[in-house]
Amino acid sequence: MTYQTIDVKSHSFSYPIYVGEELLSRRECLIPFITGQQVLIVTQEKIAQHYLSVIKQMLQDYQCAEVILADGEQVKNLHEWQKILEMLMHLGYERSCTVIALGGGVVGDIAGFVAACYQRGVNFIQIPTTLMSQVDSSIGGKTAVNHSHGKNMIGAFYQPRCVIADVAMLKTLSQQELISGFAEVIKYGLIADAHFFIWLEKNFQSVLDRDATALLYVISRSAAIKAEIVSQDEKESSMRSLLNFGHTFGHALEAAYEYQDIRHGEAVALGMAIASQLSVMLGAITSTEFDRMMCLLRACGLLEKREKLPSYSKLMTLMLRDKKVQDGKLNLIVLKKIGQAEKKSDIKPEMIELAINKVLDQLK
Ligand SMILES: NC(=O)c1ccc[n+]([C@@H]2O[C@H](COP(=O)([O-])OP(=O)(O)OC[C@H]3O[C@@H](n4cnc5c(N)ncnc54)[C@H](O)[C@@H]3O)[C@@H](O)[C@H]2O)c1
Repeated sequence: MTYQTIDVKSHSFSYPIYVGEELLSRRECLIPFITGQQVLIVTQEKIAQHYLSVIKQMLQDYQCAEVILADGEQVKNLHEWQKILEMLMHLGYERSCTVIALGGGVVGDIAGFVAACYQRGVNFIQIPTTLMSQVDSSIGGKTAVNHSHGKNMIGAFYQPRCVIADVAMLKTLSQQELISGFAEVIKYGLIADAHFFIWLEKNFQSVLDRDATALLYVISRSAAIKAEIVSQDEKESSMRSLLNFGHTFGHALEAAYEYQDIRHGEAVALGMAIASQLSVMLGAITSTEFDRMMCLLRACGLLEKREKLPSYSKLMTLMLRDKKVQDGKLNLIVLKKIGQAEKKSDIKPEMIELAINKVLDQLK
């Protein structure tokens, strides 16, 4: 079975994303990217039980240790970050060492931030194991931990040396997690590729049924879109901000639910619905296009009824704490049309309130 290579390339960094099946057994995807003789694998319980031994087997010739974090977003914090750094110091790991993130976005974000800080930066490899991390979080170098003041409040831009996205690893992922990651896939269609969006409308069921060909296609197309954007704008000074479509609302929803009872992708899906509703109000997309998007989100199980929905004022308070706020103004990403997005900073609060309430009403 062959695999695809997608390059992330800018003037300051360059690395491959390998997308394929059964890549964990391919030495050429991992070994050439390891530096030094010391490797630390950061992972979580559910992932370790399936995949840790396979990777350790391949790393027999190295001094290899692992950190197995508890499950959940709650471990993405400064305390766990510090514990991993202290472990590296106790083990006497040198600056030439390699940190491998074996997991979803939670593991990738905290391991990446460890790699960015240990001895001012050591070699870092991403082996993403969720759909979310294969299409999004492992690419582009955003690493962070959460703080009580907000999500991803403390972190760094730190690029991996390579990304290995093995679709076979998704076999053990729960359906809810697969669906959550699919929200980001739909995002790429909406903001960057209208043909891809139409393909998703027709073929979403094959992806959710884990058809390997369909999964390979959505992962490689999504990774290619993200790779192209971050190659041009690493630090989000311009077009990278378009990837935040649905995320300002989504992050506020996650905070409102205290990072429990709602997955990142589920919150982003609701955020995309609100941002698209705004796009209708601004006259950028038609209500028929909005209905198509809602229909896809609903068919995938991303618009389920919810209890304890937060109010508009609670969401607004949380949104104003977002990193994307500049001079007290919310920067929102809306659609120009299906397949194209733009940033707006002058949308009236009354309009935002109306859009939020319209979408929340559909979830009651
Ligand atoms: N850095 C970025 O650019 C970026 C982008 C998007 C999201 N994120 C972050 O990613 C996080 C969400 O990531 P996620 O959706 O991958 O969730 P996650 O990392 O919490 O993983 C979800 C669950 O799936 C389990 N799991 C992972 N892989 C598995 C596998 N192959 N088989 C069985 N179980 C498996 C995990 O143990 C966990 O319980 C959030 O913290 C979000 O902020 C970061």
